[in-house]
Amino acid sequence: MRLRIDHFQKMKTAREPIPCLTAYDYPTARIADEVGIPLILVGDSLANVVLGYDSTVLVTMEEMLHHVKPVVRGPERALVVADMPFMSYQVSEDDALRNAGRFLQEGDAQAVKLEGGHRSAPTVQRMTDAGIPVMGHIGLTPQSVNQLGGYKVQGSGLAAARDLLQDALELEQAGVFAVVLETVPAPLAKVITDRLRVPTIGVGAGPHCDGQILVVHDMLGFGAFRPRHAKRYAEVGEVMGNAMRSYVQEVQSHAFPDGKHSHQDLDEGVLEALLAEIGPDR
Ligand code: KIV
Repeated sequence: MRLRIDHFQKMKTAREPIPCLTAYDYPTARIADEVGIPLILVGDSLANVVLGYDSTVLVTMEEMLHHVKPVVRGPERALVVADMPFMSYQVSEDDALRNAGRFLQEGDAQAVKLEGGHRSAPTVQRMTDAGIPVMGHIGLTPQSVNQLGGYKVQGSGLAAARDLLQDALELEQAGVFAVVLETVPAPLAKVITDRLRVPTIGVGAGPHCDGQILVVHDMLGFGAFRPRHAKRYAEVGEVMGNAMRSYVQEVQSHAFPDGKHSHQDLDEGVLEALLAEIGPDR
């Protein structure tokens, strides 16, 4: 049975760590679900790791929806969160509500995520009032990278740390069921985690968050990007490269396909009859 947002509150209360991952396709979502990942995010990191864009700013609602649909079909248990892309929620609250609704109605996602604290809180409130579960996202918010001046640690100074805590509290007040803390100093992430009733999900925010999330391509070693916080649990890119190299060699040397990988089941006498019909080779 599909998990609901209250499950994550229970996990925080029980101090049970929440291991989350991103996914952008059906098979990955299925495997993540099978190994017990309770929350799968169809992140707008889709832009970088799947679509080959150099920024999340470029990914559209239609592209996100195209990937949300197969991801939702994968898991039996995991809650699927759809990430709201740049400009899908900043123009107006009405627009934001309509787009969040599309993720639930057309994409069948169970929740949405959007970036921003204080400035996004009224939008979050509109969504939660409408019955849409929302996950917040503060700290390094990649859609604002042009404003933040690059992919830098957020909340290091006193004023910035105070603002970040305030952002988290305002999101909680607006009804989020969890908050992503991205690229935040670990001691500050701990303070925010301790002050919030809802779980914090860290990415590059240290060990004290209630949960962790990684971009699945980063943790699998499937892609060139190597962010410091993203531990590599496999080298899938290397495995794929080696497999493809072997395939190229075997096709070139006629080692593939061999008898084992060919179909031989022609009915008896068919070959002789056919050759008799068509005559000798040209
Ligand atoms: O888009 C994404 O993958 C994200 C996670 C890193 C939280 O926002």
